[in-house]
Amino acid sequence: MSFDKKKVLSEIQSILEGINVPGTTNSVVKSRCIQRIIAHEGEVSIVLSFPAETAPHKAALKTAIEEGITKLDGVNKVQILEKLVPGQTAEPATPKGAPGGAPSMTGKDVPGVKHIIAVASGKGGVGKSTVAVNLAVELARTGARVGLMDSDVYGPSVPKMLGLEGERPQATDQETILPIERFGLKTMSIGFLLEEDSPVIWRGPMVTGLLRQFLFQVEWGELDYLLLDLPPGTGDAQLTLVQSISLSGGVIVTTPQDVALLDVQRGIQMFSRVEVPIIGIVENMSSFECPHCHEVTEVFLSGGGKAAAEKYKVPFLGSIPLVAEYVIAGDRGTPISVERPDSALSTTLASVARKIREDFQ
Ligand SMILES: Nc1ncnc2c1ncn2[C@@H]1O[C@H](COP(=O)(O)OP(=O)(O)OP(=O)(O)O)[C@@H](O)[C@H]1O
Ligand SMILES: [Mg+2]
Repeated sequence: MSFDKKKVLSEIQSILEGINVPGTTNSVVKSRCIQRIIAHEGEVSIVLSFPAETAPHKAALKTAIEEGITKLDGVNKVQILEKLVPGQTAEPATPKGAPGGAPSMTGKDVPGVKHIIAVASGKGGVGKSTVAVNLAVELARTGARVGLMDSDVYGPSVPKMLGLEGERPQATDQETILPIERFGLKTMSIGFLLEEDSPVIWRGPMVTGLLRQFLFQVEWGELDYLLLDLPPGTGDAQLTLVQSISLSGGVIVTTPQDVALLDVQRGIQMFSRVEVPIIGIVENMSSFECPHCHEVTEVFLSGGGKAAAEKYKVPFLGSIPLVAEYVIAGDRGTPISVERPDSALSTTLASVARKIREDFQ
């Protein structure tokens, strides 16, 4: 049976109009609890927020909404997301390190961390971890205090890229973990906690739980920027993570083919859903540089990253060529930005780092 989106949306609307905030005659719709409804092929995500008068009933309302919508024909899965409203959550009213700054632009959720920035991609293997690691190095080079959290629980690659394979983080007496330091960065990855090659099957809620632990139970200390290398894709796990913390911005990494446009669009949608500003698009593996004669060949003529940036009106942050040496650097455990700060990759990411420093102080 095909998914009749219009019908489902209208049924959701009537269910929501029938759920009243306890002790009032106002529905959750009238009480402005419903921020967004996203329905796609039997999966429904509802973004909620709880204005002051509704906050005491948060748990009951979430359950009622979830139960009501789950019952609908054609709905297989319901995801309840909550948009944090400043002043109505457990966080301090004034975010740390950003006096007077717009609350939605700060990483106020993690104590001591000024800005959390996510690096995302619509699909795997486009160089997201390479960009995250080297961008972290470039940011640190500007004098900022930088952390790098490998959020890719399915395929953690940060330990290898930083030459930290086999390292084990220390626990503290307070049951927190100390990040591992390398190249001036503090870093944490599930890769440090697993035996090599042990297959792990993570389900959505486990991923979010684990990543929240990484955010809140790692002693990040005072950081200007905490970069998140997100798992590839823009599905539930990523959406839940980006909505559950206060991100300052997101960087999208893509390859230049035309088909990548769709992936970029998904990345943009993911950040937009949770109102996270998009810092811009980095196009990776744009052209091929011959390791012998250094001649540059445009492998994909389309320049998809730039086209996508223009189409979706987000900044284009630059392109990075495909260079054999970059793979070797990644495999050897020394980021190219440490080894070759004059490389095309390093210069592009240094300019992204400068932009981040200017935009998020
Ligand atoms: N510009 C580049 N030139 C050459 N090789 C690159 C470049 N960017 C990334 N690579 C290599 O491509 C491979 C995939 O890159 P990376 O692991 O950064 O991608 P990813 O998007 O994080 O992948 P995953 O989805 O598996 O997490 C790595 O071996 C990396 O060294
Ligand atoms: Mg990766």
